[in-house]
Amino acid sequence: MKGAATAMQINTATTTDPSFSLDNFDINDADLPEFRDMKFEDINQLALDHPGASDGEYRTRRDHIAGLAKRFRETGVITDVDYMEEEQNIWRVVANRLEEIQAVKASKFYLQAKKDLGISNDRIPQLSEMNRRLKELSGFRLAPIEGLVETRAFLSWLSWRTMLSTQYIRHHSRPEYTPEPDIVHESIGHIPMFTNRNFADFSQFIGHGARIATDKQLEELGRLYWFTVEFGMIEEDGEIKAYGAGLLSSFGELENAFTDKVERRPFDLEQVINTDYDYSEMQPILYVITSYAELKEATRKYIESFQD
Ligand SMILES: [Fe+2]
Repeated sequence: MKGAATAMQINTATTTDPSFSLDNFDINDADLPEFRDMKFEDINQLALDHPGASDGEYRTRRDHIAGLAKRFRETGVITDVDYMEEEQNIWRVVANRLEEIQAVKASKFYLQAKKDLGISNDRIPQLSEMNRRLKELSGFRLAPIEGLVETRAFLSWLSWRTMLSTQYIRHHSRPEYTPEPDIVHESIGHIPMFTNRNFADFSQFIGHGARIATDKQLEELGRLYWFTVEFGMIEEDGEIKAYGAGLLSSFGELENAFTDKVERRPFDLEQVINTDYDYSEMQPILYVITSYAELKEATRKYIESFQD
C-alpha cells in the first residue's frame, strides 16, 4: 500500500499520482491508498428526521455496526456483522417486496447480477462475501464505512474501483424508507451493478473525475451520478427498465419511475450535468441510456475534458 501522500489526494482537486490513468482498470491491493488515512468527522451522525432518531436501542446498535465498519480502516479486513433476527426480518420484508416489483421493472443485467452475487431474500448478505465475488467478476471492491461521506471523497474511491458501503439496516418502523444509505440500499441497490464491467469502468471514470474536478465540475459529476448510478434507466429489447440504486431499492421510486408523472428522456450527458434535482422529492425527470457501453464512453470523453 502507498503512504499518506496518495491518500491525501482524495481531498484535493488535483493529483500528481503517476499511476493515475483513465484506463487503469486493473487495480491491485498495492495500488490502493491506506484506508487508515481516511479521516472523516462525524460521519456516523444520525439525522434528526431518521425514523430511529429517538430509539436509544436502535442508535446503540447502529453505533456498534458503524464501529465494526470503522475497524476496517485499521485492519483492512471486512468484519462480518452478526445480524439479529429483527434485522433479518426487516431485510426479508423489503427484499421480498422489492423482488416482486423488480421482476418486471429492473434491468435484466441487474436481475442476473443479483443471482451471481448470491444475494437472496432469506438473509442479509455480508459485504465480505459480495466483495470476494465482485473482485472475481469485475475487479471491483467494497470497503465498509460508518456513514455518509462528502461527495468528493466518496466518489474519489470509485477511482480505485472501490465503493464505500454501510452495513447497518434501516429502522423497523419504516421498512420501506431510509433517509440514509443502509445495507438494503447498498446491496439491493448498488452492489449488483458493479459486476457489469462497463458499469464498473464508468464508475471508475466518475472516480477519476472526482479526484481532479474543480468544484463546479464536481457538482456536475454529482448530477451525472444522480441520474445514472442512483436513478438511471436503460432501454433493453425495446422496453425501459431501471438500473439506478435509488430506483431499485425503493418501492415508491420504482413504481413512480414508470408513471406518467415522470418524463423519461434519452440520455444526454451535457443535459444531465446541467439538470438540477431535488433529493427529497420523487424524481420528475429520468434519463434512459441505450447501453452501459454508451454510458461508459460518454463519461470517458467528459472526464478526459477535465485534463485539458
Ligand atoms: Fe446510493
